[in-house]
Amino acid sequence: MLLLPLLPLALAVLGPASASASASPSSPLFTFPNLNVTYYYDVADFPYHPACDAAAGGPGWAQPTNEGSTACGPSVKDLDTNAVVAMNVTWLNQNGYAARLTDLCGREVQIWKEGKQVTMKGGPFFLWEGCQACATLPRIDVSLNAYIAATGDKECFRGTVGGFDVFVMDNFVRRARAAKTLLNVPALAAGFTLALTLALV
Ligand SMILES: *[C@@H]1O[C@H](CO)[C@@H](O)[C@H](O)[C@H]1NC(C)=O
Ligand SMILES: *[C@@H]1O[C@H](CO)[C@@H](O)[C@H](O)[C@H]1NC(C)=O
Repeated sequence: MLLLPLLPLALAVLGPASASASASPSSPLFTFPNLNVTYYYDVADFPYHPACDAAAGGPGWAQPTNEGSTACGPSVKDLDTNAVVAMNVTWLNQNGYAARLTDLCGREVQIWKEGKQVTMKGGPFFLWEGCQACATLPRIDVSLNAYIAATGDKECFRGTVGGFDVFVMDNFVRRARAAKTLLNVPALAAGFTLALTLALV
């Protein structure tokens, strides 16, 4: 009993010191402070999170999303990962389809809260989908596993939890298949491509 009032004091003393060692990533390309996190898919769903499955609409709730194609191409089920992050679709598309595929799809995403990075088995997280709701709400969408890793809310009582800083990094975890164009070929193949193009005209 006597120790309890001292605990916050001890944490206050220890907290800033441990957080300052790694308060945020060193050189993110894009920084989105203070976003909410919610979940929208789960590649390995029922029966691992029965309470969340029930909250989300019953076993199999994630199947359509798991199997649907994404802004970056293959579905999360094709990639067999819970590390996909969906972000503001307006931002993702602002420079067009080709730029999205080559410049944004597959970049590492780091999720931090109060100076600590969220990690998950099967990580690191990466950008692979556009989120419609995130164009108007300050939010990212992640897998159920990532939501639990980020929030500790194993029963999905809360659904959406705030206070996360999200960083899109310089490195790629995956690469999307670039849009095919005839111009985008190595010099050696150019003659052949030109001949093929002319033949098709
Ligand atoms: C989504 O991105 C667009 C384009 O960058 C931006 O104007 C808008 O404010 C963003 N939405 C949110 C909720 O941050
Ligand atoms: C974001 O999270 C905060 C804190 O958890 C909550 O109060 C707020 O309603 C959430 N906002 C949205 C748009 O989900």
